[in-house]
Amino acid sequence: MKPIKVSLMSGSPKPLSSASGALLDSLKPRLSDHFHVSFHYLNKTSVPEESMESFINSDILVLSFPLYVDGIPSHLLNCLYEMEINLKRHPRPDMTIYAIVNCGFFEGHQALPAIEMVKNWCHKADVTWGQGLGVGGGGMIQSLSGVPDGQGPKKNFSHALDALAFHINTGSEGEDIYISPNFPRIGYKIGAEMGWRHQSKMNGLNKKDLDRRLV
Ligand SMILES: Cc1cc2nc3c(=O)[nH]c(=O)nc-3n(C[C@H](O)[C@H](O)[C@H](O)COP(=O)(O)O)c2cc1C
Repeated sequence: MKPIKVSLMSGSPKPLSSASGALLDSLKPRLSDHFHVSFHYLNKTSVPEESMESFINSDILVLSFPLYVDGIPSHLLNCLYEMEINLKRHPRPDMTIYAIVNCGFFEGHQALPAIEMVKNWCHKADVTWGQGLGVGGGGMIQSLSGVPDGQGPKKNFSHALDALAFHINTGSEGEDIYISPNFPRIGYKIGAEMGWRHQSKMNGLNKKDLDRRLV
């Protein structure tokens, strides 16, 4: 029997240490052993040749990306455009697309418009929509790597990834899921503000610079 090919694609512009990549890393062990899984980075304005080849030959694509201004990051939009052009030459209506969108806000439903954009892209590119997962609290995903699966602040992440993996493994369509971390919202906000102050200091800026208007 021909193995089912799955492409996991991280659409964060960060090549390393992205929440998008971490979510795919957590999803991968939940996928069926019968799948042939490959991992790709869409962190530039064009799809690397090898990734494009993998994409067009895939049965399943899992696209994980950060929410930018309530939408799809512009470099990734360009990649999706290239993929759409390729799909016109090599139609794949049987290919199923799953999307994981993580965002800086605490509430995962902030990702709803971006998930709708991916659904529209599926319609235009004539591929099959599978399921969307909107993940809030993206800023803390990296820091949870040491937390056991399904425990403490990771509970909702783990359950949502289990549900998504179920639909990927069975090739079925699922209801979109929107989650926030199992962590107090205020604690997340305080942590984010501390992080921004630390980052501004590391880059030779001060607290006031964080409030500066760019235009
Ligand atoms: C240019 C830019 C725009 C962003 N816009 C939003 C937004 O509209 N809503 C939101 O919740 N987070 C927004 N964020 C935060 C990212 O979605 C968040 O930091 C995410 O966890 C980054 O994921 P990554 O590590 O996979 O790149 C934005 C970040 C950047 C750099």
